[in-house]
Amino acid sequence: MTSESASNHESRITNHDDAIRIDVVSLFPDFIDQAAAVGVVGRARERGLLSLEGWNPRDYATGNYRRVDDRPFGGGPGMVMLLDPLLATLAAARAADPAPARVIYMSPQGRPLTQAKVRELAQLPRLILLCGRYEGVDERLLASEVDEELSIGDYVLSGGELAAAVVVDAVARLQDGALGDVESAVQDSFEGDGLLDCPHYTRPVEHALGRVPDVLLSGNHAEIAKWRRQQSLVRTLERRPELVDEAALGKADRRLLAAWRAGQGD
Ligand code: ADE
Repeated sequence: MTSESASNHESRITNHDDAIRIDVVSLFPDFIDQAAAVGVVGRARERGLLSLEGWNPRDYATGNYRRVDDRPFGGGPGMVMLLDPLLATLAAARAADPAPARVIYMSPQGRPLTQAKVRELAQLPRLILLCGRYEGVDERLLASEVDEELSIGDYVLSGGELAAAVVVDAVARLQDGALGDVESAVQDSFEGDGLLDCPHYTRPVEHALGRVPDVLLSGNHAEIAKWRRQQSLVRTLERRPELVDEAALGKADRRLLAAWRAGQGD
């Protein structure tokens, strides 16, 4: 082992102390495990920056049929997840580690997940993500055990697992040491200034689908930074105007926008 890799190894070990732990309560815990096995998240787990464990309420259900759901009072379609198997599962998950856990229910009724929320969650020692199936879980569980509800968008999934996998991914890649290049998280869409990311190009310069913008080949880093900022501003205004308050932009940004508009003839 070279001295450099020895010191990397040490820093990895010291990082273990502040690794985040995520427990997922789900009838399909293997799904999350597989979703979190590859790429940046898989590597974060291998490096000990994230520990992930699944908890299946079916394992905590009692009776011959190990029921986890029942019909809703008041009638109507679908089934509701039962209180007791979920309470027992949550208690087991909590007891697996003394660190305090934020318990989050994945649901289309939740607050929208944003990068700011992801940053907040990424700093916590422990999350427990609760995934509903069917029509959802008994409301009393949400009232007594759940700290917050999060939605990944205004559409309905057949269960919370995909949404939980989204949280695991977004939180894992923000753990120190998870990304190869420290810069890449800072430059992402929504990071820093809340703007969308600029376009990216790689080889070849000339292609039947078009040419790489000259400025990126110029080697002029100040001009490249200006172009990227301008592209981010224009993209955000065109695609997600609600994310930018044009009136609150600084002088340099307003100038970049004006230059772009002048070039577009409007
Ligand atoms: N469960 C079902 N739909 C969902 C959504 N949009 N976000 C989070 N959890 C969900």
